Amino acid sequence: MKPINVGLLGIGTVGGGTHAVLTRNQEEITRRAGRPIHIVAVADRHVERARELVGADVKVTDDAFSLVDDPNIDIIVELIGGYTTALDLVLRAIDNGKHVVTANKALLAVHGNEIFAAAQKKGVMVAFEAAVAGGIPIIKALREGLSANRIQWLAGIINGTTNFILSEMRDKGLSFTSVLHEAQRLGYAEADPTFDIEGIDAAHKATLMASIAFGIPVQFDKAHVEGINKLDAIDIGYAEQLGYRIKLLGIAKRQANGVELRVHPTLVPSKRLIANVEGAMNAVLVWGDAVGATLYYGKGAGAEPTASAVIADLVDVTRLATADPKNRVPHLAFQPDQLSDLPVLPMSEVETAAYLRMRALDKPGVLADVTRILADLNISIDAMIQKEPAEGEDQADVVLLTHVAREKDINAAIHKIEALESIHGKVTRIRMEALNG
Ligand code: NDP
Ligand code: HSE
Repeated sequence: MKPINVGLLGIGTVGGGTHAVLTRNQEEITRRAGRPIHIVAVADRHVERARELVGADVKVTDDAFSLVDDPNIDIIVELIGGYTTALDLVLRAIDNGKHVVTANKALLAVHGNEIFAAAQKKGVMVAFEAAVAGGIPIIKALREGLSANRIQWLAGIINGTTNFILSEMRDKGLSFTSVLHEAQRLGYAEADPTFDIEGIDAAHKATLMASIAFGIPVQFDKAHVEGINKLDAIDIGYAEQLGYRIKLLGIAKRQANGVELRVHPTLVPSKRLIANVEGAMNAVLVWGDAVGATLYYGKGAGAEPTASAVIADLVDVTRLATADPKNRVPHLAFQPDQLSDLPVLPMSEVETAAYLRMRALDKPGVLADVTRILADLNISIDAMIQKEPAEGEDQADVVLLTHVAREKDINAAIHKIEALESIHGKVTRIRMEALNG
């Protein structure tokens, strides 16, 4: 059987894992794909290191464009990252009639519409299982396994670096910086780790999942993005006392008038399975009207877990390469002419419960003022804790949990509470999700 020839762009963490797994499991993978899958050429800036990894039989170059222009190559695997050179390479590979496999969520979240349209026109596939939640086959599940359902919402821990940081800080009391360095050493973090800690990487992934779940174009620019960089350890402790864990969630939710697309630290009831996902593990909870809740769990980053997804795509592309392009699985699950114009809602229209922490003077009437402000805006209180002031202090922390309310009303309440003379400093707000239906 004629092998399928692969050109690998980038042999760093994921590229190295892809080469290693493809070599180690070659026989098993060939039995699945129906044809041997051969990496015939590798492009990386580090030519010597690449040569050491792949041996003498594979062409090695630092010129990635020479691979996308090579007529002997059937599939380009893009694992260099970024959205500049990677975009040029992917578009040129497509233009040259090559299928593309990529783990590059940043590229697809920002330029996906252009890339998928170009691939559609050329009749080639762009496969991206590895771009969301590393080794978890969540793209396959959303795009194919759940295709009977009207998906109502999904919520995921989709950034291993931040989940690792939150877990290590809570369990071992380690500092943010030391845990981040460890995540970088383990190969979880992005080239620019601010993408991880500021929630951008999770928003790239949530954007892709939202498009597949709801059949809407890729709209990263409309996502609301907050990371864990402003999270205070004291809130992790109070959340625990109230029966919650704080997780950085990527959320996509269908509402009557549009779609919520947001990433932010979120209080999740501790008893939910997803609240107990620790370390660099990822998990995505999806709610479909027919199936109810389904949960997907596994390693969301690292060399071989991500390679697992890259190679699954290679097998898919190998199997489908000869199929009529019209009968392939559409890139965004829905047929390209059936994408919906359901808008992504502005954050002010989003509805969530909220955790509000404030520093209040310990004197009569303060809580009454706060609760009046909330009541005037139709925000009802679910739970409250008031700490004793520390020895010699006249202020104490007050934590309120609200029922579900509109973001713009919570914003207005925070504004008014902060203006009270008896409240010192800013109100900390962390959104909450019950994730139960
Ligand atoms: P690495 O930085 O480990 O590997 C990328 C390699 O490509 C490096 O050797 C890099 O060289 C090289 N490279 C970059 N630009 C070029 C270029 N223009 N020409 C030739 N070589 C180039 O990245 P990862 O393997 O971690 O990530 C690759 C992709 O996979 C990214 O899109 C990332 O977001 C995604 N991803 C990563 C995961 C992970 O766990 N690491 C998980 C899921 C997705 P240099 O170092 O000099 O830049
Ligand atoms: N930096 C990403 C993470 C890699 O930490 O999850 C996987 O996409």
